[in-house]
Amino acid sequence: MAQIIVMGNEKGGSGKSTSAMHLITALVRDGHTVGAMDFDLRQKSLFRYLDNRTDYMRRHAMTLPMPRRIALEASNADSRTEAEDEETDRFQAAVADLSRDCQYIVIDCPGSYSTYSRLAHASADTLITPMNDSLVDFDMLARLDPSTGRILGPSLYSEMVWKARQSRAATGRRQMDWVVLRNRMSTIDAKNKRRVGSALQELADRIGFRLVPGFSERVIFRELFLSGLTLLDLRADDPQSMTMSNIAARQEVRGLLKALSLEPQSAAA
Ligand SMILES: Nc1ncnc2c1ncn2[C@@H]1O[C@H](COP(=O)(O)OP(=O)(O)O)[C@@H](O)[C@H]1O
Ligand SMILES: [Mg+2]
Repeated sequence: MAQIIVMGNEKGGSGKSTSAMHLITALVRDGHTVGAMDFDLRQKSLFRYLDNRTDYMRRHAMTLPMPRRIALEASNADSRTEAEDEETDRFQAAVADLSRDCQYIVIDCPGSYSTYSRLAHASADTLITPMNDSLVDFDMLARLDPSTGRILGPSLYSEMVWKARQSRAATGRRQMDWVVLRNRMSTIDAKNKRRVGSALQELADRIGFRLVPGFSERVIFRELFLSGLTLLDLRADDPQSMTMSNIAARQEVRGLLKALSLEPQSAAA
């Protein structure tokens, strides 16, 4: 079966889709076969990005490595149980389909709970949770005492991940690797960076994730979206695109890939 990598957290605008695009591009550029699913059925940022990439190729009469995508629709069934059953069947069929020829399946989740999102979390070999690098965003991972900042317990989201891990353990598959990625790190506010870092480290041990090096705040992450490119597509011999900042950003993406230490997957038959 393909290795499943899920981008999740229940907060919008934290960098799930941006991370998904970069991870997919890094994998396909490294010659891996990748399947992609976008469960943010309203925004569809990941699939819009892939559309932009297709447009870019057409306009420039060139080819870029691409993932294979499967789009799933929400069920129209009347009852909730029926809808859940139908979505479960669709999800499993899509994973089986992509597993036939993909080494990796990358799934982008919405910033709120949905059946597809729950199913994705429950099947994740690797779960990547990007988080804006601010103490304000901690409530996504844990409930905090507002006056003291002490950790009171896991958030609803962390509990969902916990359940996903338990149901996974029951099937005998290897443990999910849950990583939290610090996104939009300030390159100037070193004090905030330190405070967030030590608070996250404490949470990591209690809630059961590991921290991986993240991305700094850089306009380039936004600018490339419309062209369907990522930092990894920029040409190393083009002095205009290879600014110091872009080279550093590219290193950050490579650093993430290394920290994930994805097991080499042999191509499916
Ligand atoms: N490291 C970053 N630096 C600058 N802008 C970023 C960075 N990461 C994400 N963004 C921007 O923030 C917005 C939200 O990011 P996105 O990946 O769509 O979040 P999510 O999928 O979690 O809702 C997008 O406009 C994106 O371009
Ligand atoms: Mg998104």
